[in-house]
Amino acid sequence: MMSKVTISTLHAKKQNKEKITALTAYDAPTARLLDESGIDIILVGDSLGNTFAGHDNSLPVTTDQIIYHCQAVRRGCNHALILGDMPFMSYQVSVEDAIRNAGRIIKEGGAHAIKMEVGVAHVDHVSSVVNAGIPVIAHIGFTPQAIHQIGGFKVQGKGEAAAQELINLAHQMELAGAAGLLLEMVPAQVSKTITDALRIPTIGIGAGPHTDGQILVTNDVLGYKSEFSPKFVKRYASIETVISDAFKSYVSEIKSQTFPKDEHSY
Ligand code: KIV
Repeated sequence: MMSKVTISTLHAKKQNKEKITALTAYDAPTARLLDESGIDIILVGDSLGNTFAGHDNSLPVTTDQIIYHCQAVRRGCNHALILGDMPFMSYQVSVEDAIRNAGRIIKEGGAHAIKMEVGVAHVDHVSSVVNAGIPVIAHIGFTPQAIHQIGGFKVQGKGEAAAQELINLAHQMELAGAAGLLLEMVPAQVSKTITDALRIPTIGIGAGPHTDGQILVTNDVLGYKSEFSPKFVKRYASIETVISDAFKSYVSEIKSQTFPKDEHSY
């Protein structure tokens, strides 16, 4: 039987040089399949703003929505660590907001840890949530909630000064008590420097092969079409074709009266 993944499991994996595996889920059936695959972390990411709700970005996502999707994922999951995302404006205004909303994601959503997109301004937010007894994964590098500030999907930590800033931020997050780091769209060498320097595990997305673990958005991995497919995505299936073919067959069989047959009738 697979044992439950905890923050200690992730730390042990880093020490033992075993890679950490992570993907996103927003619903119970996907969470169940992911859990059965032996995945370590299921992220209920605010990427659901794009992948589930059809927005252009993650900014409209609310804490209530993250909680709802965490609850669904929790019902499908027995083994993986559930990481609930702190959506835009659930923590930026104050440390109190950060503690209260992180607490809700754990208490009402059933997540085991939270992820927060952070910069230097959020050291206190991270340490306060940690002091409340909630493990925090600090998301640095490209932080999609700052899309309007960054001005698009851009690699972060490029060039010596920017790399050093990112490395300093990583150290600050470890000192603030973060249980791990998520590095998004960071040059592979910078991720390596951070991963080698820190005690806490790093999980990368578009951050090269040297991080302690890897995460992608499940919709991208399964091959749901999206308008934007970053270079770091690898498709492991073409689920859109499978679903589309099934829908077309259903519609066509009803029209041609080949479904339902006697075997489907009472
Ligand atoms: O919200 C999300 O799914 C994320 C991933 C891009 C890591 O933050």
